[in-house]
Amino acid sequence: MDKIRIRGGVRLKGEIPISGAKNAALPLMAACLLTDAPLTLTNVPKLADVAFMADLLRLFGAGVEWTPESSPGAGGRYRLCAANLVGTTADYDIVRKMRASFVVLGPLLARAGQAKVSLPGGCAIGARPVNLHLMALEALGAAVELSDGYVIASAPGGLKGARIEFPTVSVGATENALMAATLAEGHSVIANAAREPEIGDLGDCLMAMGARISGLGTSTIVVDGVAALHAAEHAVLPDRIETGTYAMAAAIAGGEIELTGTRADLIGSLITVLEMAGAQVSQTNRGLAVARNGVRPTSVSATTAPFPGFPTDLQAQFMALMATAEGTSHIRETIFENRFMHVPELLRMSADITIEGDTAIVRGVPRLAGAPVMATDLRASSSLVLAGLGAEGETIVNRVYHLDRGFERLEEKLSRVGADIERLPA
Ligand code: EPZ
Repeated sequence: MDKIRIRGGVRLKGEIPISGAKNAALPLMAACLLTDAPLTLTNVPKLADVAFMADLLRLFGAGVEWTPESSPGAGGRYRLCAANLVGTTADYDIVRKMRASFVVLGPLLARAGQAKVSLPGGCAIGARPVNLHLMALEALGAAVELSDGYVIASAPGGLKGARIEFPTVSVGATENALMAATLAEGHSVIANAAREPEIGDLGDCLMAMGARISGLGTSTIVVDGVAALHAAEHAVLPDRIETGTYAMAAAIAGGEIELTGTRADLIGSLITVLEMAGAQVSQTNRGLAVARNGVRPTSVSATTAPFPGFPTDLQAQFMALMATAEGTSHIRETIFENRFMHVPELLRMSADITIEGDTAIVRGVPRLAGAPVMATDLRASSSLVLAGLGAEGETIVNRVYHLDRGFERLEEKLSRVGADIERLPA
């Protein structure tokens, strides 16, 4: 298995192009199942999870054509066409490897009137149930049965528009509900919907395909079902988690970088705390500039929450920054119950962190010390890379396949702004 080696203490300077968002691309790709016409997606990041979703779509009979962009590393374009569905089952072996596969349930059911998708099971960051996805599809008139670890959903006469009221905010359940409602007969209201930018991006693409949707970006989304969707082309929005991760790389290592092709409004809650911590962040005409010069960062506390709150997917990276800040920071995780796996690894790098319930108490130390580390999830792994950039000496991050699932060419992007980082092949 590949490893990443980082020698810390180098200030960053230059620019990093931000890729399309993984968590937008995955549901957007699944949206091709809603129609027999082609869906073309541009600005698609080249990532293991995206390739995995492409393989899953092929199993349902979709034609999948990938064309890389001409400038190397700028992702690519997918032409997806599910003219004829040859299957509507997603097996356990697939869904357990990538739980985002569960987002095919809504579109398959809406288009074919039936779908059988394995329950994903828990994962490293929490139990992650799917009850809200099922509740939404039942509200739209589907019969849902659980059998031998599978969800078997059917709606032979088609889905019917309805009011779906989510008791808690779920990104994936909102996406499944939104896609299913586009082909349901009549009017649907999705209340307490997730407001993450990836939902807005999915909604924009569905509208380009002919769906009738209003209220995107608010917590009440209204959908008037249509009989069929048509061909469309859509550009995936910039990855806000990649944006935030590299913004924190500059805050940890010091220096000045420009993140091109991204936007400040995607990471407003992070910008607020970065500025309080002593970094400078400004929108440029090509993206975002992030700088930290001279002084050590100051401790700031943060609590994760659904958008527009502080993203859980940036919590681990923020903890790496706070580990070397002046003072004590309280970082509270409210979305997932087991998302502190990076803490024992940061402790191996001489951080001073204790966990009390859902809160990590981070007492900043002047400098972390490089060490061999590993993590069991994508964002935790990226936090260890960031910690390594600010640490004294050498850090080896093991299990790089986690990073490859969600960060396009991470080591290349960081080395082009001067970081001393390289991939060590297995
Ligand atoms: C999405 O996961 C993201 N994944 C996650 O990113 C992200 O951490 C998460 O949203 C929160 O922002 C993708 O977009 C592919 P949720 P999702 O449903 O949709 C509970 C990454 O690193 N819940 O919003 O699965 C759930 O347990 C990944 O890129 C239920 O109780 O998250 C959690 O506590 C990790 N029942 C909360 O809701 C349900 O049916 C929010 O989860 C569904 C969710």
